[in-house]
Amino acid sequence: MTREPAHWCVRHHRTLAYDITECSSLFSPENTALLLPGRLEGGRRFVVLDRQVARHHGEEISSYFAHRGIDAKIVLFTAGEAGKTFDRYLDLLRELDAFPIHRRDEPIIAIGGGVLTDVVGYVASSYRRGVPHVKVPTTLMGYVDAAVGIKNGINFNGHKNRLGSFEPPLRVLLDRGFLNTLPHSHILNGVCEIIKLAIIKDAHLFHLLEIHGSESIDARFQNDTGEAILRRAISGILEELEPDLFESNLMRTMDFGHTFCYGLEARHEDHLLHGEAVLLDIVVSVLIAQRRHLISVSETDRIFRLIDTLGIALDGALLDPELMWRSLLDRVEHRNGHQSVPMPNPLGHCVFLNDISRREIERSVEELEKWRNPGYEPACECRS
Ligand SMILES: NC(=O)c1ccc[n+]([C@@H]2O[C@H](COP(=O)([O-])OP(=O)(O)OC[C@H]3O[C@@H](n4cnc5c(N)ncnc54)[C@H](O)[C@@H]3O)[C@@H](O)[C@H]2O)c1
Repeated sequence: MTREPAHWCVRHHRTLAYDITECSSLFSPENTALLLPGRLEGGRRFVVLDRQVARHHGEEISSYFAHRGIDAKIVLFTAGEAGKTFDRYLDLLRELDAFPIHRRDEPIIAIGGGVLTDVVGYVASSYRRGVPHVKVPTTLMGYVDAAVGIKNGINFNGHKNRLGSFEPPLRVLLDRGFLNTLPHSHILNGVCEIIKLAIIKDAHLFHLLEIHGSESIDARFQNDTGEAILRRAISGILEELEPDLFESNLMRTMDFGHTFCYGLEARHEDHLLHGEAVLLDIVVSVLIAQRRHLISVSETDRIFRLIDTLGIALDGALLDPELMWRSLLDRVEHRNGHQSVPMPNPLGHCVFLNDISRREIERSVEELEKWRNPGYEPACECRS
């Protein structure tokens, strides 16, 4: 007698919700934002704190936990891309395991930039198959991008973010005050991600950057226009992320500027910041888009003028078409066999390309310096 094979199909829907909340005076003794949801008094907290942030807020943070009778293990973390390694991930896991924490009501607290929140998010998502964590971004990159989504990761085998997880934080606490001590280069680093969003999704944000970008950078985004730019940027990113947090659709608008830059970032890890690499990718992409008449000459010119006005230096000498082509090929694997390269069409809107050639990358790199000269007029064939 032949029997039908048994078959089970497991379906489960996990509701995913987390808050992203602006706040200030996070370490005032009466402020409970950092502890919610979880125990407000007593118990333990595993806190990973950026070493630079500790210089300015370390004592305040220790006093905060002491005031509440919480046994806090505060681990200092040296950030920078070089800190996003498997070894650092394991070091944190060992420290956590030796501490340890309750599985549910003592969330891990991550206070730092994108490197720290990416690594700690991965620690939290893998320890005991997942314990809750809270993110407190202290860089502009973290504030507008790295900490507001659900992606965590570390670099591995020479590749950016090759290991990682999708795991939402319990909550994200946004305190612009941290930006007061952030070095200028890292303010500009975060601005590069805002420019990305503006070019590919939000022409009004681009206009805001043209009018108020410089003064907001000078004010380290502590002014009203700075606040408006940051709020608009976060809302825009979340509009893109929220419908597809787990990236089922691999045609992602937010991948603009994240195609050709991966190899550059890995090669120049010690002196090229993530946002700077993204901006190099953006200008090469923009020139490909311009040659294909997806954006006009005047839009292209506006993009170069904005970068200049905001005082962001582009080191075109780092561009290497062969490396960028290889990065694109790696992205094809990542995007399941398609290039799916987002391109502006027109400024503030996105289309996807699947037929970018190596020659187009080379030509854009060759043309880049010319476009950086005010008043550059491209040959008639590339006019729209
Ligand atoms: N998960 C995501 O969706 C996502 C999105 C964008 C970027 N990222 C990742 O973010 C990383 C880059 O993040 P980053 O630019 O914040 O780098 P980072 O975390 O290395 O921080 C930059 C520098 O600023 C210092 N610092 C942090 N806060 C400070 C403060 N308030 N005052 C003074 N100094 C301070 C740090 O010590 C470090 O030296 C990259 O690895 C990138 O892949 C992740």
